[in-house]
Amino acid sequence: MSLSVTETLNAYRTQRAFTTQPVTDDSFHQIIATAQQMPTSQYLQAYSLIEITKPEIRAKLAEIITMPTVSENGRLLVVVADQHRNASLAPGTAAKRALTEFDRFAGSIEDATLMTAAMVMVAESQGLGSVVLGSINNDTQAVIDLLHLPTLTLPVFGLQLGYPEVRPEKKPRLALPAILFKDQYQEPTSYQRALTEFDQQLHAYYQGRTSHARDESLAHMTNEALGSAAKRHRFLQIVRRQGFLPELDD
Ligand SMILES: Cc1cc2nc3c(=O)[nH]c(=O)nc-3n(C[C@H](O)[C@H](O)[C@H](O)COP(=O)(O)O)c2cc1C
Repeated sequence: MSLSVTETLNAYRTQRAFTTQPVTDDSFHQIIATAQQMPTSQYLQAYSLIEITKPEIRAKLAEIITMPTVSENGRLLVVVADQHRNASLAPGTAAKRALTEFDRFAGSIEDATLMTAAMVMVAESQGLGSVVLGSINNDTQAVIDLLHLPTLTLPVFGLQLGYPEVRPEKKPRLALPAILFKDQYQEPTSYQRALTEFDQQLHAYYQGRTSHARDESLAHMTNEALGSAAKRHRFLQIVRRQGFLPELDD
C-alpha cells in the first residue's frame, strides 16, 4: 500500500537509523524511475546518481558526513549535479561553454535537488525512511576524488534510504504567514507573532523529544546552523576546479 503525497508529507520526518531489512532492487529502481518524472530544467536531466555499494567507500563517506549510521543499513546514494554528460552531447564550443556558467551550474543543482526531493517522497510513500545528507560537502574534494567525479560534476547530497528503526517525533514548521506573502516581500517584523509562536513550538518540541532533549530557541538554532558554512569556505574554489563558474571578462 502506498500513501498519498499529502499523507506522505504530513507524516514526514528525517530518519537516521535503519533496520537490516534490505531494500530490494525492484523497490529501489522503482523509487528512482518514478522520481525521474519530476520537472527538469531545460529538459537537460543534469544529475547522476552513484549508488555506494563498497563498504570501504561507504565507511569513508560516513566519516566525512560524521554519522556512523551512514555506513550501516539501507541504500546509500550520492546525488551528483552533472553537466558532464550534456557537455559530451553538445556539439559546439559555445554550448559547452554555456554549460560551465552560472545559469547551467544552478540548473544542475536545481535538477539534483528536485530529484532528491522526489526520491524522498516516493520512498516515504512506500513505507521507507530517508535522510538527505548535505554534510557530504564537509569535504567536497575528498568525495570528488573518492567517486572519480569528472569536470562539470559536483556532489550535492548523500541520500540514505531504508526501513526506519525508530520513528522520531515530528518537527514543527513555520506557520503560513511567515512564508506566504501577497504581491510583495514582507519583512519578518510584519509577522513577528507567527515567529514567536513558532519559537514556542520549537522550544516545546526540543524539550519534549525522547532523545537529545534540550532547551532550544529559533535564534540560537539559526546561529548554530550557520557554523557549518565555516567548513565550506573552499567550496567556490572546488566548484571552479570542477570547471564550473569561469571568471568572466566583463
Ligand atoms: C539540503 C538538506 C541537507 C541536509 N543535510 C543533513 C545532514 O547532512 N545530516 C542530517 O542528519 N540531516 C540532514 N538534513 C535533514 C535536516 O536536518 C532535517 O530535514 C531538518 O532538521 C528538519 O527535520 P525533519 O526532516 O525531521 O522534519 C538535511 C536536509 C536538507 C533539506
